[in-house]
Amino acid sequence: MGIRIKGTGRYVPEKILTNADLEKMVDTSDEWIVTRTGIKERHIATATETTSDMAAAAANAALEMGGVDAKDIDLIIVSTTTPDMMFPNTASIVQKKIGAAPCVCFDLAAACSGLIYGLNTAYGMMASPLKYKRALVIGSEKLSCITDWSDRSTCVLFGDAAAAVLLENDGNPDTPDFYADGLVSADGNFGDILLMPGGGSANPASHETVDQHMHFIKMGGPKTFQLAVHSMVDACRTLVERASIPREKIRWVIPHQANWRIISAVAARLDMPEKVYQNVQRYGNTSSASIGLCLDELNRSGQLEKDDYVLIVSFGAGLTWGALLLRW
Ligand code: UT7
Repeated sequence: MGIRIKGTGRYVPEKILTNADLEKMVDTSDEWIVTRTGIKERHIATATETTSDMAAAAANAALEMGGVDAKDIDLIIVSTTTPDMMFPNTASIVQKKIGAAPCVCFDLAAACSGLIYGLNTAYGMMASPLKYKRALVIGSEKLSCITDWSDRSTCVLFGDAAAAVLLENDGNPDTPDFYADGLVSADGNFGDILLMPGGGSANPASHETVDQHMHFIKMGGPKTFQLAVHSMVDACRTLVERASIPREKIRWVIPHQANWRIISAVAARLDMPEKVYQNVQRYGNTSSASIGLCLDELNRSGQLEKDDYVLIVSFGAGLTWGALLLRW
């Protein structure tokens, strides 16, 4: 069909929060954080910097790389767990900030699996009779604003960032699509292991929800860890087995960057450790931005070439998970 990845972009806030900084905030240590998670530092947005600001910066970088004018975009999907506000959606705010013309804009809630859900959705819409021609799929997260900075079991994990992927249909039926294969899924039975309980219709914001820290991330760490490895390995195996390309053709495997131990466990079980990319040590877990950060780093450093295959895989609150086999 000719639907290709035309550009990538990322935005990372300037301020760095190191493990040494965290040692002054909660009862933790650099040694614990590094051995349990691999994370050394993460970036934190300023008080006034919003999810849409970061998303717009990442989108502009992708548009510039692709040589595409924002006015020619006809679909914007923003995946986020930290929208600027409940409504309007963040995608519409991004549309205004990048100067795009009126087009389809919506947010997508799939937590850390958001970029994979977003690429899957955008591809479906572009390949459908609706024929969207140029799409921006963005993962943007200001997780610092829903992090409980007094809870050592979660506050050491997360960081802020945004990443964008620009898709374009070149209209040439002989051009192979970027989307070689994909699998996305969810199981709501595990919804209570990773959530932010306050602020929605179940627990509208009140003095009580604030007092009870309900507007922060709550996570059952070990259970999430176990499900993460299981769901990501399963999704990758299914895709690799049914892909009509030899395994050797996969140049990179990019798992969601939550924890190097999860990444290493996935790499070992797939038996492709040398292909696995990771940057969790520099950014922490940036949820739906994490895979896009990796893609953009690889792309801009010349480590991705035309027709390379890249396997991206994620899991997140929901529990959601998914894997895509991308053709670069
Ligand atoms: O994007 C998806 C979202 N989340 C994830 O992917 C996270 C998945 N889970 C994990 O990455 C890991 O479970 C964690 C890194 C969160 C925790 O590692 P763990 O090896 O599962 O540790 P644990 O929760 O079993 O805790 C072990 C100990 C506990 O102490 P006791 O009860 O054994 O005395 C914790 O209180 O470590 C303690 N602990 C800490 N100690 C120092 C928990 N957090 C900290 C900390 N510093 N920051």
